[in-house]
Amino acid sequence: MTALPVILDVDTGVDDALAILFAVAHPGIDVLGISCVAGNASLERVVENTLRILDVAGSPDIPVAAGARRPLIEPARSASHVHGEGGLGTLRLPPSDRSALPISSIELMHTLISQSAVPVTLVALAPQTNLALLLRQYPDIADNIERIVFMGGSASVGNATAVAEFNVWHDPEAAAIVLDSGVPTFMYGLDVFNQVGVDENVASALLEHDSAVGRTVGSLLTNRVVLGSDKSSEYTGLIGDAGAVCALVDPDALRTELRPVRVELGGYGRGQTLVDLRRWPGEDVVHGLAEEWETVEIALDVDAPRYARLFLETLGLA
Ligand code: BDR
Ligand code: CA
Repeated sequence: MTALPVILDVDTGVDDALAILFAVAHPGIDVLGISCVAGNASLERVVENTLRILDVAGSPDIPVAAGARRPLIEPARSASHVHGEGGLGTLRLPPSDRSALPISSIELMHTLISQSAVPVTLVALAPQTNLALLLRQYPDIADNIERIVFMGGSASVGNATAVAEFNVWHDPEAAAIVLDSGVPTFMYGLDVFNQVGVDENVASALLEHDSAVGRTVGSLLTNRVVLGSDKSSEYTGLIGDAGAVCALVDPDALRTELRPVRVELGGYGRGQTLVDLRRWPGEDVVHGLAEEWETVEIALDVDAPRYARLFLETLGLA
């Protein structure tokens, strides 16, 4: 089986780090390059974290480049309350000898996709600013993109707001551009993201693992989410963005549906992915009032233990 050619777009980030480790380790995935964007942390931190995680992975020389340092319209707003000031929770890694390419990640993606003999899968684990810029600047590149798999959005609850998921909320215009690009899209949203976790005893034991990968994964998984002003915290053990990468190699563990989706751009709903889950046409359709929505394949349910197992086994940790 030839490996799937993939470009990762990341805002590393605790769970982006887990996703990078998994993608590099999985024999069915060929990571052509990594594009960085501001999101969970500043662009500089994201680049640095990405290079350091590639060291932990013992990865070959995968090209990394920096892209947008802020969303298309709004200022960057980090998620340091979830990912820590540095972006990797309490994990501290030594500086890397690797460096990012001296070109924009938009140019890196354009070159890698243009040169690929087979269409490339773009995996967005972050706000979609870089993808929107790529598709606006080089619309013809869409012809050599197999599909865009993105962690983002939700058909139910939000996290950045009551209704909006962080990646889409951080740059809603970018997400709307991507959905409208004509490239097939696959949404791995909070509906499944929030389900796939590793048991706390297993994660804690990894802190003493004899491999650097094991100890790093242990630290990332045991990063606790601070709940409120009393500083209480909770173990989630979510593999997060890594689940979207699992979807590339084990799609059968997901229940998916093709659904109309739109990104809300105004009011409190800004950044929400509205998903039309109706089985029958409503009054909007009957009365000819329905606007056109984009059709997206959405993951609505997941065999969570199967993805947690896939993740650990791929990294040699189970
Ligand atoms: C998403 O936002 C970030 O906090 C995570 O890395 C993930 O990509 C979840 O909303
Ligand atoms: Ca992310």
